[in-house]
This record gives sequence, structure tokens and C-alpha cells, in this order.
Amino acid sequence: MVDTTRRTFLLSSVGLAGSCLLPRALWAAGIGGGPGGKASLPMRHGESPVAPREQWLLDFDWRFAFGNGSDPAKDFGYGFGQGDFSKTGDFKLATAEFNDAGWRALDLPHDWAVELPAVHDDSGDDDTRLTSHGYKPLGRRFPTTSVGWYRRTFELPESDRGRRIWIEFDGAMRDVVLFVNGCFIGQHDDGYTPFRFDLTDFLNYGGKNVIALRVDASFGDGWFYEGAGIYRHVWLTKMDPVHLGRWESVVRSTVEGQAAALALATRIENESGHAVHASLEWSITDASGRVVAHATTPAQAIAPNASADCQATARIDAPKLWSPDEPHLYTALVKVVVDGAVRDAEQFPFGVRTAAFDPERGFFLNGKPLKIQGTCNHQDHAGVGAALPDRLQSFRVEVLQGMGCNAVRTSHNMPTPEWVEACDRMGMMMMCETRHMSSSPSGMQQLDVMVKRYRNSPSIILWSIGNEEWRLQKGALEHQGERIGAAMVARCHELDPTRVVSAAVNGDNEQGVSDALDVIGFNYNLKYPDAFHREHPTRAVYGSETSSAIATRGEYVTDPKKNTVNSYDGVVPWGETPEQWWSFYGTRDWLAGGFAWTGFDYRGEPTPYGWPSVNSQFGIVDLCGFPKDYYYYYKAWWTKAPSLHVFPHWNWAGKEGQEIPVWVYTNLDEVELLLNGKSLGIQKVPRLGHVQWKVTYAPGVIEARGRRDGQVVLVERRETTGTARKLRLAADRSEISADGQDVAMITVDVLDGHGRPVPTANHKLAFRITGAGKLIGVGNGDPNCLESDKEPKRSLFNGLAQLIVQSTDSTGTIHIEALEEGAEQSLTPASVTVTTRKAAARLVVA
Ligand code: GAL
Repeated sequence: MVDTTRRTFLLSSVGLAGSCLLPRALWAAGIGGGPGGKASLPMRHGESPVAPREQWLLDFDWRFAFGNGSDPAKDFGYGFGQGDFSKTGDFKLATAEFNDAGWRALDLPHDWAVELPAVHDDSGDDDTRLTSHGYKPLGRRFPTTSVGWYRRTFELPESDRGRRIWIEFDGAMRDVVLFVNGCFIGQHDDGYTPFRFDLTDFLNYGGKNVIALRVDASFGDGWFYEGAGIYRHVWLTKMDPVHLGRWESVVRSTVEGQAAALALATRIENESGHAVHASLEWSITDASGRVVAHATTPAQAIAPNASADCQATARIDAPKLWSPDEPHLYTALVKVVVDGAVRDAEQFPFGVRTAAFDPERGFFLNGKPLKIQGTCNHQDHAGVGAALPDRLQSFRVEVLQGMGCNAVRTSHNMPTPEWVEACDRMGMMMMCETRHMSSSPSGMQQLDVMVKRYRNSPSIILWSIGNEEWRLQKGALEHQGERIGAAMVARCHELDPTRVVSAAVNGDNEQGVSDALDVIGFNYNLKYPDAFHREHPTRAVYGSETSSAIATRGEYVTDPKKNTVNSYDGVVPWGETPEQWWSFYGTRDWLAGGFAWTGFDYRGEPTPYGWPSVNSQFGIVDLCGFPKDYYYYYKAWWTKAPSLHVFPHWNWAGKEGQEIPVWVYTNLDEVELLLNGKSLGIQKVPRLGHVQWKVTYAPGVIEARGRRDGQVVLVERRETTGTARKLRLAADRSEISADGQDVAMITVDVLDGHGRPVPTANHKLAFRITGAGKLIGVGNGDPNCLESDKEPKRSLFNGLAQLIVQSTDSTGTIHIEALEEGAEQSLTPASVTVTTRKAAARLVVA
């Protein structure tokens, strides 16, 4: 709740400031009508509302129950007879009459698929069995676990009467039917685009309101794990009937010498029932909050139920350009003014930068060549599945940046807003991809939403209209491919003339959809780009999807009986090891770089195995974000600082006298390898390559000494460790926000008697979380682990496990303990404490 002091302060500042705009949360906490607030959330990304508009977070205190995909009697009677949609207001489940006391209480974002035990189903082919979905029982054959109902009750103040009130879903998987106060409101049927409904006419003002929605995950949008349920945020947005159009506010910048010319555009919509004269006021602030540019548009008449598109220009002198190294952001604030009063306002970040693809010289950012060192990623993480807390998005960006990754591809769907926000803020470029390559109304709707939603984000350098649509590339629908591609590309250009458009094509790019593309993307197939470049020297090319190397973290032997893949050179037949693809893309100036499949492991697609493998092994890091050895190949060649990594570990009891391959990834000139102090020789490091030895195993120390210009710059050792003795816990941050959403990422490992991490430990552990937080997920990165992601226990996998601990809305401390499960208890337990600090004010529906 907002405390009295803050409330008092706010009221007095409103009094002093008159009609000035306060940040949306502060304004409303002080004077806005509505249910009380809970703790805080950072400013929402995208078009953040500013007073008088309010955006209330509706994530907390939902009720959930499984319905049924085939039996209406077990689906709360839904579809039992004919009545569900027959009369407005008659749908009982969305009224106070319905008793949901037996339903489970939960907070959003929520993914029920990650909570389900995996089911061994290898029936049929790839399209029909559960393999691609991580063996989670979703689909029409699993009706008891494929449909979920969510309910929520909330009060609305009488003072909201006269405002337009929307419920906004950032995304749900997958088919949603929404009812409010007994009334059918609408449907949405794709898993990735945000959607909203205007509830104004259906609400009780000064009384109780009931929301009920049925989410059906029987159908999927992909061939990878996608989650199920309301896996992104939900908001209640209140605005004046005269307001800005959704995602219509755009700032386009052009760098002109030492200045940036800004083209400002937005739309005013008039739902007030009478004509108004509305003007706009724009102000642009830099990161310190200083206003650096300003613009106004003259008042213009807008008829009832009409809208007006408005343009203005402004200029920033000596702008600070956005780049991965220096991700400078500006904020645009736009207000709608009618008769001197601000009726609506929103603000959003944008960046000033130039981006261009050159057919001869690759990608240029701000006029300088920059190779795209990219990874493709699904949105899926250990412990939480598709329901990623916002902080986890930044955590994942940090992990990828650690190896020099400067770009992500949002394969194969529109990303969540907080992922884009993290990339804008942290300097990660993006290729933003829509789910369906189609110019059908639904395909174009998805594309429209994606481009409009994110066109102000400087991180996005490229739109992608889809991935590997074989029939549209070459095949039965090749000519349809040309037309569909042309329509989609034209629509992107219309909505966003500042960016080029591509697609991820698995073929020679000679026909079909490729004809329409601004920039040519090759998936795999290193045999094609050279010939394509020779034949089409005026077309810019990059690797839209590369590699598909596979590795099990901490495993060095490919063993089909254990479903493991070695960490040296595992790769699928259609793919390339990191060294193979980067030696190709990294050595041709005309290639703009590329996106490796994938940054993180994800559930589903457990290639090359099936059950009990439930995760992919394609990640450069595992499902928790723990690096595999390939990570250090990229670190060596994608970052400038000296780097050196020697592997494998040196715990090979029983293999004494046998040869073990020892590899070193480094960007230094040469490496000397020593076993127990004895040199095994010096090797020169090939550019973009690695060095390797075969070492006859003896326990002790393997040591790599990396030299540059004859000097030892870095030394790395792997030591044979003793028995595991003592657990260790480490939090990524010692302090998090007490907002019920922030998370601390806890790494668990285990040390021997000399304090050395034991890389082969696989003990079963149990966890206890007390104080101002709760456990929301556990993982260990093992693609073959069938243990629960939600229970407070997990085995270590090759020495590591991860806990995701979330704050509540109380300040205080979270105490996290780990101990060994079972009677033996040979490991000393460990604990760590995370402090939860008071969060900034925000609006939360109570
Ligand atoms: C690609 C596809 C990806 C993934 C990958 C695995 O062809 O675009 O989604 O399936 O193969 O190698």
C-alpha cells in the first residue's frame, strides 16, 4: 500500500504543480480514483501512460482451475448446451454468483505447462508426438491439462465513470475467450501478440467486477515449447475519451551532421461523443531528464468518433547515439491538450542511431561497420517456462553479452515487451520476427501489431517476416511466396520506413519469398552464400540462423544411452560448430554476421534424442544460463579482452592412462599446456580457431598458459578435485525490489575440502526459503532431467543448480538455504540472504 507520507507528499506536490504531469504511478497513487496500490514496478516500456491516463497492473491474486478440452461437464459446463453466448450478461462463471473458493490462487505471469509432469509419448511423427513440446501433455489428446480458466474480481471507483477502460493482455498461450460481469467480451487466438478489449460499457462503477477467461492451449503456434496460460502481464488501462491511438506515437530520427532531425507523429482519437479542438505538446528529454527538444501542433477540430493524425518536427543538437557500447536513450512525452487541459499523455523511450546493410561491406551502425554477433532465442527458462519475470529478461541479456553476443533474434515470434526493453536499455540489437509468414488477415494483424508496438525501439535493426517456410521458398506455393512476401514487406515499409525487412530462409534464396526481401537471410547451408553473392552483388546478406551445435553442459562423451552430447564438436547434420560458421561469416566483409541457433537451451526439440530428453541441447548456455564450453569459443572471438578457457574438467577417476582430448579456446597468440607442471608443448592459435591436445590422464592439474607477444597473459587450470563436502549459494544480486515480481537468481554449487567446485557432483538437494520471498522455480540445465521445476528440491547437474526466488511486497530479507536430501547428508548446508528494498510507487489492482 502507498504509505501516508507519500500520499501526503503527492497531494501537496499536485497542489503546487497545478496541471503538471507527474509520473503516472505517483499521480494516481495520490489523486487517482481506484483500488489501492501495492509496491512498485519500473516504468512500463513502450507507450507508458502519464497522468491523466492510468495503467494498473492486474497480475496479482487470480484464481485458476483446469477446465477440459473434450468434456463440457468438466469444463464448468462450457459448451454443455447452447447458452454460453446466447444472452448478454448470462455467463455465470463471470459473475459473483460463481464460487471459485476451490480454485487455486496464483499471480501472473503464469505458465501451467511448466508445472505439468512430462509424459512419455513418442507416438506418431514429429508433428503429432510431444517431443517438440518437451513432453508436456498439451494438445487435443490431453484435454485435462490443455484448458485453463482464470478468474479475478476487482472493485472500480465511481469516479472512473466516463473514462474509457481497457483490459490489456501482453500475451496468452493460446486461444482466449473473455467474459466480464457475465458478458461475452471477445476472443483472441494467437499465442504471441498482445490484445486488449474495451470494457467501458460492461463495468460496474463504484462496485465489484468479475473477469473470467478460458485459455485453451490445445493448439500451438510453433514446434518448440510454448507454455500455456497467461504468461505475460495483464493491465487495466483507464483513459479519457479523448486519447492517443494505441501504438500510434512514433519518433523517427535522422542524423544530419551534428544534429538529429526528429519526425514526430501520433493519432488523437475522439470517443467523447462531441467535437473537440485538440492540440499536442511533445517534449523530448535525455537520460538525465533535461528537455532537449520540444514541439507543438496547433489545435484542430476532431469530430465525434473520428481521429486525427498529427505530425510535428523537432531537433536534438549533438545527440548521443544509441549503440551496443553506449545505449543512450531519449524519452518522448506527448500530451493531448483540449481547452487548456491535458486529456491524455504517454511517454516512451527511443534512440537516435543509423543502421544500414551494405551488400559489399556488411552491417553499419552509426556509420561504422559492426558484425552481427547474434543468437536466436526462444522465451523459455528453467523453473518458470514461458512465464519469465521481467528481471529474468535482463539476466538473460547479461548472460549473452558476457560472451560478446551483440544481437538476438526473437525466434520465431513477437517478443515480450520486457525483452525488448532490456535490449534497448542494455545495448543488445534485435531482429524481431513475427510468427506466421502469411498475408492473411490474421498474419497481417500479427505483423502490424509487432511493427507498431516496437518501431520506436532502437535495438531493433531488422524485421523478419518469418522462418523456414519451405513451401513459400521453393515448392508448391513458390509464387504465392512472392506475393505473400511482397505484401508483408510492403506493410512493414508502410508502418516503418526506417527499417529493412528480411526472413530466415532455409534454401538458396533464389525464388519465392526471397524476391521481396530487403536483406537476404540464410539459415545454415554454408554452400549457398558465396554463389548468391556472386550472382546478386547488390543484395545484402547475413546468417539468419546458423550453427545448431549441440552439447550437454559438462559432458565430454556422446553417449546415446545417456542422451548426452560431447562438448567438443557436437553438431546436427545440417548445422555447423561455432568455429565452422564463424570462420565463414567472420571472414567475409560482405556478410553482415549472423545469429547462432541458439543462445539458451529451451524445452522441446531435444535433438538428437527423444525421451527422456525434454530440453534442446542447442544452447550455447543451458536452460539456466550456465555456460557450456562453446560459450568460450564465442567469448574468445566476439570480445576483445584477452580470454582463455581450457576444458574438460580433470576428474577422470578410472581413466588413468587413457587419452583425454584437451581443448583451449583463446584469442591469445599461443598456448602452452602443462600436466602436473610438465609441458606438453606450445601451440599457435589459428585465427577464429582453437588448439587441442590428447593428454594421457593422470590426476592432478592441467594448466593452460596463454601468451601474447611472448608474455603469459592468462593462466587457467582444471584440478582433480576431492570429494564434495560443502554446498555454496550465490545470489546474482544481494538486494531486490519488494514488488512481488523482482527475482534473485541463485546459483548452487558444491565444493571439495579445498574449496574447489566439484564439476561432476550430482547430489539431490532440498531448499528452504523463508522471509520476504518465495521460490518460483528450480533448474539444473540437464536436458534429461524429469524432476519438478516447482518443488523446493533439485539434483545438481554436473556441479550446478539454479533457484529463482521472487520478492513479496514486504521489505525485509529472504533467507535461502540448501541442504542435501536424504539420510546421508554428507554435504555441509549453505545459506544466502537477499534483502528486499522498498520499491517505487506503482499502480496495482488490489
Ligand atoms: C531450424 C529451425 C529452428 C530449429 C532448428 C534446430 O531449422 O528454424 O526452429 O528447429 O532448426 O536445428
